[in-house]
Amino acid sequence: MNIEVKNISKSYDDLKVIIDFNMCFSSNRIHCFFGPSGCGKTTLANILTGVISADSGHVIGKNNKKISYIFQEDRLLPWATVKENILFVLDSFHNKSEAQLLADKYLSMVDLLKFKNHYPHQLSGGMKQRVSIARAFAYGGEILVMDEPFKGLHLGLKKNLMDYIIDNWNHESSFLFFITHDIDEAIYMADDIYIFNGPPLKLKRRVTIDTSREDRRNNKKLETYKKIILEDN
Ligand SMILES: Nc1ncnc2c1ncn2[C@@H]1O[C@H](COP(=O)(O)OP(=O)(O)O)[C@@H](O)[C@H]1O
Ligand SMILES: [Mg+2]
Repeated sequence: MNIEVKNISKSYDDLKVIIDFNMCFSSNRIHCFFGPSGCGKTTLANILTGVISADSGHVIGKNNKKISYIFQEDRLLPWATVKENILFVLDSFHNKSEAQLLADKYLSMVDLLKFKNHYPHQLSGGMKQRVSIARAFAYGGEILVMDEPFKGLHLGLKKNLMDYIIDNWNHESSFLFFITHDIDEAIYMADDIYIFNGPPLKLKRRVTIDTSREDRRNNKKLETYKKIILEDN
């Protein structure tokens, strides 16, 4: 199963961010958009998911898939507590007691159970980011987009979250798009890294990471990829 963008273009006033761009992504892989700030990664992800529409071109294969989106900036409901923010995406799919249990499960995954009754304005940037991650998993989209989800998180927690995500996203017919400009995150998480520059957005190179998950967790063979990717930047 694939999701394809075909001949998409997108401009903001005079800035042509994407021009007649084509790419194809297969399911069951972690696709990483890697490239400097401003090159058009978020714009591409927004078009892929339908958050914004392209000026021209098509997205094929998305159909009616559920989408979980961890936005670059947090989009939590400011009037709702941490737990209510999670319950909000669970309520339509589960009965009340089930939803309560699941909300707690996802909050403990991001180590925020103790803060479940706090409001977003009482949290740090990194904590809000963790609530967004918990919410995306609670919603359980078949397309998961994570736009720089780990910024502001310390290394230990980041590694736990990356491992959790790798182990728990639904592989079969799912797509995971992960946007970052952190090379270590990219190599740790991705099956395919797309090295972009722009605007207008250009794919400079695709690097497929063949090292097993286990070796990556033990930090093996990653330096080689780092060299390959840095050569291109
Ligand atoms: N809503 C918008 N209005 C005007 N310009 C935008 C908007 N969104 C993005 N841009 C511009 O488009 C370019 C690509 O942005 P973006 O896709 O967010 O890049 P990235 O995610 O790679 O940092 C940037 O120059 C940015 O300023
Ligand atoms: Mg961005």
